[in-house]
Amino acid sequence: MVLRFGADRAGFRAAVRALVAAQLPPAHVVWRMAGPGEPAMEGGGADLFGTPGPGIAPAEAAGMVADGAPALSLPRAVATLADLVLCHRDPARFALLCTLIWRVTQGERQLADNPADPLVHRLGRMAKAVRRDIHKMHAFVRFKALGTENGRERFVAWFEPEHFILEAAAPFFRTRFPAMDWAILTPHGTVGWKDHTLAFGPPASRPTLPEGDGFEEGWLAYYASAFNPARANPSMMRTEMPKKYWPNLPEARLIPGLLEGAPARVAEMLARQAAAPRKRDPQKAVAAMAQQAPSSLEELNALIAASPAFVAGGTRAVLGEGPPHPRLALVGEQPGDQEDEEGRPFVGPAGQLLMKAMAEAGLSREAVYLTNAVKHFKFVPRGTRRLHQKPTAGEVKHYRWWLEKELDFVRPRLVVALGGTAALALTGKALAVTRERGPHRLGVHEGYLTFHPSYLLRLPEEAARREAYSAFVADLTAAKALAEAA
Ligand code: URA
Repeated sequence: MVLRFGADRAGFRAAVRALVAAQLPPAHVVWRMAGPGEPAMEGGGADLFGTPGPGIAPAEAAGMVADGAPALSLPRAVATLADLVLCHRDPARFALLCTLIWRVTQGERQLADNPADPLVHRLGRMAKAVRRDIHKMHAFVRFKALGTENGRERFVAWFEPEHFILEAAAPFFRTRFPAMDWAILTPHGTVGWKDHTLAFGPPASRPTLPEGDGFEEGWLAYYASAFNPARANPSMMRTEMPKKYWPNLPEARLIPGLLEGAPARVAEMLARQAAAPRKRDPQKAVAAMAQQAPSSLEELNALIAASPAFVAGGTRAVLGEGPPHPRLALVGEQPGDQEDEEGRPFVGPAGQLLMKAMAEAGLSREAVYLTNAVKHFKFVPRGTRRLHQKPTAGEVKHYRWWLEKELDFVRPRLVVALGGTAALALTGKALAVTRERGPHRLGVHEGYLTFHPSYLLRLPEEAARREAYSAFVADLTAAKALAEAA
């Protein structure tokens, strides 16, 4: 089987479907990935089996007919694992996955849930490496400004992922930077966003990029000022920001100097602290934030991303996403476990319920702006799990300035507060959601107050859950109508 260069999910799916339909065990199959630009048997199906490349057994010889091979019904865990592992650079990935799927179809339905199985264990490690690579790409792509064309700013970035993650990582950039035209070039392929369309292209080689720009200078100045010498931990830094990414990170060139100067700066801080001992003052933290003067949403996001969390746990900031100036902005409480993993709001169970309700209300994820009152996941570790903790009123207050600034830049017609924490962040007051649901002024915004989707998930009674869900869909429908009329 010859698959397209990269993570050929469609080709692999079609191939496996046909192999299973033909009852051909994995040991009889040899897999190969085509080189970049090498014509592959595109898209699976008849093509994949009908026009073999040199040295490849024709499908008929293997007794297979791919066209019309029935779709496989696989457990979700298998499909998720396969989607990730297909991005791995290990040439053995196809054979390993094929074996997994074969065993599942031969009766081991729960196989992917058994981490003690050596195959599952190996695939799990590969999936983890891919997830990490995607995370690194989201965190470490740095765009350079190329100037303006037809009134839109153009940006380009060079990035070298370890695995074939371009297609999996690209949607993040589309939702994060919808208002500018950009391209990310990698040795595995390119992706560009122009005229509101995401387009993929062939592998690129490292381009000569302009040396810095206005935004980069601002970012470097901010990075240097936000660097806390007392918390500098070079080995942790190298784990979080491995050296191989440094050539493409403008801030990396500051690091050696900052680390070198850290002991002297710590000594200076300690001396200052001894002279004037004082407690951590939330008012001052908020006042310090108000000193920051970002001039765009991108700058604000860079500040938020570089700032330490104000809550316990919080590994990274999960920023808002969506188009500028939408009809609706939806504000939740804080990212959860999965949002923290993926770096995107509303992708976990509560997010999935929200997406379902939005779809029923005629709203698409792409059309609305999604964000949270608190930008970090507050949790306590329990064994291997991370248990969500509700933010305190004081913590919500800490994050308020950012939320207000964010909504100033995004300028939605109507803001929907999902639950009490969002309402508190937007109004400064505690509101009783069940009693006060409906159109509601939210600070400076025209607004609408409704449930948080997690509240619906937590209702123990099926009937109550159904009723609250219908009310939630009705609220979203009403908010949409209000925003359209505004
Ligand atoms: N709950 C929230 O409030 N926000 C998210 O992003 C996810 C779950």
